Amino acid sequence: MSKISMAYLSNTGNTEQMAEIVAESIKEAGAEVDVIEASEIDFDEFVSADVIVLGCPACGTEELDEEYIEPLMEQFEGKLEGKKVAMFGSYGWGGGEYMDTWVGRMEELGASVIGTVTGEEGPSEVEDELKKLGENIAKA
Ligand SMILES: Cc1cc2nc3c(=O)[nH]c(=O)nc-3n(C[C@H](O)[C@H](O)[C@H](O)COP(=O)(O)O)c2cc1C
Repeated sequence: MSKISMAYLSNTGNTEQMAEIVAESIKEAGAEVDVIEASEIDFDEFVSADVIVLGCPACGTEELDEEYIEPLMEQFEGKLEGKKVAMFGSYGWGGGEYMDTWVGRMEELGASVIGTVTGEEGPSEVEDELKKLGENIAKA
């Protein structure tokens, strides 16, 4: 079975709620996943997974969180070749544009992006997409 690492950053709880739905769906599909906050990542352990799942809301101006997620992206340099990754996160007014940039950056790092979901101010309008993402992660 593939090892799945999942971490999220959430300032006001919206992306956290999305993380819970994705994790639940992964488990319902029969796979195992530990969900941690981005601040708790042990990098070597995290990056050793076959599938890396990250949650981050739109921050700054269509940017990623600067405190934990940006440093993580720097650490990924040279480590994601051939890895499967999936991302999700909440946004407020930008329509999730930051995710497109994030996908491009992951691909530049050599990762294969197997799915993404963005939700306006939380999971309420994208619950089915989040569940589907979880199923796809479990199958990856
Ligand atoms: C400082 C700050 C910057 C933000 N920048 C954006 C942005 O560029 N685009 C956007 O769509 N939403 C932006 N938002 C809105 C958040 O992404 C949105 O409220 C999201 O649901 C927060 O998710 P969280 O509860 O997981 O932190 C910003 C919010 C804050 C506080």
